[in-house]
Amino acid sequence: MSDKKPNVAVVGATGAVGNQMIACLEERNFPLKSLRLMASSRSAGRRLPFRGEQITVEELTEDSFGDVDIALFSAGGGTSQRFAPAAARSGCVVVDNSSAWRMDPDVPLVVPEVNPHAIAGYTTKGIIANPNCSTIQMVVALNPIHQKAGIRRIVVSTYQAVSGTGMRAIEELTRQTKAVMEKKACPREVYPHQIAFNCLPHIDVFLDNGYTREEMKMVNETHKIMEDDAIAVTATTVRVPVFYGHSESINIETRTHIGADEVRSLLEKAPGVAVVDDPQENRYPLALDAEGQDLTLVGRIRQDESIANGINMWVVADNIRKGAATNTVQIAEVLVEKYL
Ligand code: A2P
Repeated sequence: MSDKKPNVAVVGATGAVGNQMIACLEERNFPLKSLRLMASSRSAGRRLPFRGEQITVEELTEDSFGDVDIALFSAGGGTSQRFAPAAARSGCVVVDNSSAWRMDPDVPLVVPEVNPHAIAGYTTKGIIANPNCSTIQMVVALNPIHQKAGIRRIVVSTYQAVSGTGMRAIEELTRQTKAVMEKKACPREVYPHQIAFNCLPHIDVFLDNGYTREEMKMVNETHKIMEDDAIAVTATTVRVPVFYGHSESINIETRTHIGADEVRSLLEKAPGVAVVDDPQENRYPLALDAEGQDLTLVGRIRQDESIANGINMWVVADNIRKGAATNTVQIAEVLVEKYL
């Protein structure tokens, strides 16, 4: 592309992540020539604001991508499975936020702070995958430690916000919270159990090995992004009644010894990370503080005293921003800057 100002489309523009993608493009002053917004026929004709104008949402079809250079998809796995190849055939590069293409060996899976070089592989299929939200914030925090001390094993438990499920889940938590406070019947549509005032150790479907698919995404995607299948990873993923911001308790075992102070100073210099770690002043990462910004917050950094080379930490990020929209837009920025 000669002038480096692509025509961009957001697919799933009316959704929780799509909305944030539009906001990110505006906030980061993304160098685009035009922006088109696409969703299902239900939303065709709706108007959404961008840079002081109202853009009309179009119905997504296989012919939508004629003049589009980069399409940011967040409309669910089925939509990506069906429409991303059509978009790529039209000569457009897809950056896909769903899980549909993440483990395809011909599709790069990218966190720009960790493996930006992998973007080069987009030419095979014309698709780049954005990782799972919980995986993104974990690898942003862990990669600097892996580079220094080699991570042998990761044990992670997540506390994930309902916005990760989409708009309907945000509405469900709101409705249920109100119903419980008013002592009324608690409507349930999105999750198999009440999410208000509850924690559900169940994200995505259960697999034959007893893990959920969300848990296995954290295992497999970590290997692919960190380019090291030797790292042992085990995860328990939990949905909690929080609107925005995923929190994670992470325990790692390293190959060589690294002290908590060294981890703290490594992470203070790491791209995309802010260390928030002053427990005496009650300062540690909180979902409410992560909301609406793009850094991965890391705190409660301490030695795991039960083993020789272990570290514990608490890692929080805005799942809709760094966990989805921002990471997608960052990938598109590298694409424009280096590859198109
Ligand atoms: P729509 O609002 O028209 O249903 P969320 O994850 O927040 O629920 O958002 C999902 C996004 O994906 C919405 O923008 C939704 O559009 C869009 N979407 C869902 N199914 C399709 C489809 N078959 N074709 C195009 N967009 C879709």
